[in-house]
Amino acid sequence: MLQRTEHLTKRYGTKDGHTLERYLADGGYEQARRAMSMSREEIVNECKAANLRGRGGAGFPMGIKWSFMAPKVAPERPHYLVINADEGEPGTFKDRTLMEKDPHSTIEGCIIGCRAIGAHVAYIYVRDELHLAKDRLWGAIREAKEKGYLGAKPFGVDYPVEVYVHAGAGAYICGEETSLLNSLEGRRGEPRLKPPFPAQAGAFGMPTTVNNLESIATVPTVMRLGGENFSKMSALHPKEGGCRLYGVSGHVKTPGIFECAVGVTLRELIYDLGGGVKGGELLAVIPGGSSTPILRADELVNAPNEKDALHAWHGKSVLDVPMGVETFRGLGTMLGTCCATVLSTQACPVRAMHNLMRFYRVESCGQCTPCREGSGWLERLLDKIVAGTGTLDDLNRLSEVANSIMGNTICAFGEGTAMPALGFLKKFRPEFEEYIRTGGRSSTNRLELHAAAAE
Ligand SMILES: Cc1cc2nc3c(=O)[nH]c(=O)nc-3n(C[C@H](O)[C@H](O)[C@H](O)COP(=O)(O)O)c2cc1C
Repeated sequence: MLQRTEHLTKRYGTKDGHTLERYLADGGYEQARRAMSMSREEIVNECKAANLRGRGGAGFPMGIKWSFMAPKVAPERPHYLVINADEGEPGTFKDRTLMEKDPHSTIEGCIIGCRAIGAHVAYIYVRDELHLAKDRLWGAIREAKEKGYLGAKPFGVDYPVEVYVHAGAGAYICGEETSLLNSLEGRRGEPRLKPPFPAQAGAFGMPTTVNNLESIATVPTVMRLGGENFSKMSALHPKEGGCRLYGVSGHVKTPGIFECAVGVTLRELIYDLGGGVKGGELLAVIPGGSSTPILRADELVNAPNEKDALHAWHGKSVLDVPMGVETFRGLGTMLGTCCATVLSTQACPVRAMHNLMRFYRVESCGQCTPCREGSGWLERLLDKIVAGTGTLDDLNRLSEVANSIMGNTICAFGEGTAMPALGFLKKFRPEFEEYIRTGGRSSTNRLELHAAAAE
């Protein structure tokens, strides 16, 4: 059951939601004040109890990530908190709304986060073109400093905290945490080999936690409600807790960002929040940013074994499975950033894949050969198919190239390219074949085409 919440978006509809005055009127900074008198362990435990899964795409449990930081801070090895607000994933625009409409929750989250991991400095890495977001964050930092919430003695406690906004030049790869760290240090934005992980050697070679901006902006809510209460809001508690931002765009009538308790289904996201499909019928959904494999609207859950995590939904539509990190993994895709892109029957899956693969070719940093060469190869094969000169053999070649990128790169950009490519090929094979046969001039309804192929 769809459950709208207003913990992160309470101030979204107001003109002054970005101001300190408004934030304080809603009880703002009380949790940062409280955190200053708590131990690191107590804060981390709240976050663990909240079962807050990282909102940046991989869904790693936030409290556990915080606990990876060394319990004692050596003076020559300061800890850093780095906030990832690069948000370059196509279809994803949730962090931007938080920065523009309610920047103080992020600053308060940074103070609590610094305290939790033993850091005194937080960097918020924002892509440069988000001018309003950067202005709002800097404005919030100024206001918080004037009040004495940031600086040498936040809330009168001898625990200095500074927060800085760092503008990134706008490369998708700089959202990957180790490229982001290189970029922050003024180096070329290329991923680093792991290990060492950022908790061991991150920003400037020092122990670092990288959190997504929504993850950190949610922390004041976790502290206010208490970890366990936060977790219980979710339909997927205890595996995954709380509320989060859901995005929907593409062929829907009312695209946007909506806050709900965890466990919304794609059907609710598309029809109740997104206002239904615009132009045609529902064909497919890319569930959480362009790197997440596409789901067809007519797919059914296949989990016949009672031990299957998704057994309760066996035979039901994938549109009715609660959106969660693990449930969507069970569907063979990913929850990713929880911002869905909807494709109606008016969309052409061949051209949609071509468009995506062009993006990945342009954005590959080029460090790893399989990704650099493979993404270009995928695009060229699709250029040929879209131009009407492709062959059925090109479809096999597309799969071969995508499979040879998978697992052969330093960072997950490779999988982010290959997985959606393989997803499109698997889910839309009849459409690709028809496109090749007719040179893209077929007018057959895509749902009918697929149904005919399945018979
Ligand atoms: C190619 C690529 C791009 C990414 N872009 C972003 C991004 O824009 N924002 C983000 O928070 N995480 C992004 N990530 C995931 C980060 O590497 C990292 O997992 C995340 O910032 C951790 O935050 P979380 O634990 O709070 O989710 C990206 C990963 C890859 C491989």
